[in-house]
Amino acid sequence: MATREIGIIVNGATGRIASTQHLANALLPIRDEGGLAAGADRIVPRLMLAGRDAERVSALAGRLGIAEWTADLDAALERPDFPIFFDAAATRQRVATLTRAIEAGKHIYSEKPLAPSVEQGAQLLRAIRARGLKAGAVEDKIFLPGLRKLARLAAAGFFGRITGFRLDFGWWVFDGAERPSQRPSWNYRRSGGGGLISDMYPHWRYVIETILGPIRRVVSTATTVIPERVDEAGARYAVDVDDTATTLAELANGAVGTIVCSWATRVRRDDLLTLQVDGTGGSALAGLHKCWIQSAADTPAVRHFNPDVDLGMDYRADWKEFPGATERINPYRAGWERFLRHVVMNEPLVSDFRAGLRDVALAEACYRSAVEGRWVAIDEPGALA
Ligand SMILES: NC(=O)c1ccc[n+]([C@@H]2O[C@H](COP(=O)([O-])OP(=O)(O)OC[C@H]3O[C@@H](n4cnc5c(N)ncnc54)[C@H](O)[C@@H]3O)[C@@H](O)[C@H]2O)c1
Repeated sequence: MATREIGIIVNGATGRIASTQHLANALLPIRDEGGLAAGADRIVPRLMLAGRDAERVSALAGRLGIAEWTADLDAALERPDFPIFFDAAATRQRVATLTRAIEAGKHIYSEKPLAPSVEQGAQLLRAIRARGLKAGAVEDKIFLPGLRKLARLAAAGFFGRITGFRLDFGWWVFDGAERPSQRPSWNYRRSGGGGLISDMYPHWRYVIETILGPIRRVVSTATTVIPERVDEAGARYAVDVDDTATTLAELANGAVGTIVCSWATRVRRDDLLTLQVDGTGGSALAGLHKCWIQSAADTPAVRHFNPDVDLGMDYRADWKEFPGATERINPYRAGWERFLRHVVMNEPLVSDFRAGLRDVALAEACYRSAVEGRWVAIDEPGALA
């Protein structure tokens, strides 16, 4: 068995998602376990942390036991022993940063959204193809245990003909005045690349399409319900992006579903994200980890509602927990393993750059619908390369 080291530049390393999920929960465990099995060989990530603030990057490198770090991205991009570039810095810089990395001949792995528009993302894809580079997009949510169970049910035909679906997501994000905000302020500023649809809908694209099939068209609202917030420095700022969005989505198979998301809602559902799928054969509702099912046979006969007396029914009693897969894998690690095998062994990659572009296309279609007040086909921009 041979060990093959592969150099990965991790840009935006000190950010929340890079430092926790991608480094501590994915790349470091792969490295510390002696690498990823790839045929007869093992692929061992060699990491270089990159960021703007040398002090913070070096402190993180020290904490994680990573020898190589830099605050000079150009110098890092010149290193031939680091053929992979991963971007998890704040969204606003993404296109410019990925353009530099592509020009430097790096294989690209990127957090979502890949670009603020399909057109800009398609330009990146053309550059990637022109140089014969490999590229992938982070599509982690489909590896959540609850959604994996739902995907298994769909693949096994449990639902029969799909009659509809409902995706509910969100929680209360404090405005920073009353209590500290749980999300960075760039999420609420157009100049920072923020916006709930831009941030979250890329996930809903691959979740819905993996489990239920292609989305044909959407009609959407995008609203700002908390107009003013307080940033990390204590300064008040006007929110100029959406923090709440409601969407009707029609699938290619004719089923229609809803996507309801808000950073200004309080949780009274089974989980922070729930996806219910209904079909002639049964229904299932998945949270992040668990999944409950009600088959056609288990479906109670609801006869009427009673305006005078609360019947005291427990409508959850007729649902069973679906045990599903027991194997646990960190969703970000699952993505890295697939991407690394794609780069090193040429294995096909579902979450490639084009898939990431379609994630952007859903967000773009929803924004367009919200502005123009009409149904918009997800392929409408016509810019998908
Ligand atoms: N897949 C997911 O579930 C998921 C979850 C959260 C965030 N994200 C994505 O990850 C990215 C980072 O999000 P986060 O929540 O970690 O944000 P964050 O604010 O915690 O981190 C952003 C990082 O980018 C750095 N940064 C900002 N501008 C930079 C620049 N010009 N050059 C280099 N570094 C710069 C910041 O210093 C910080 O380290 C975003 O694109 C976001 O959409 C994905």
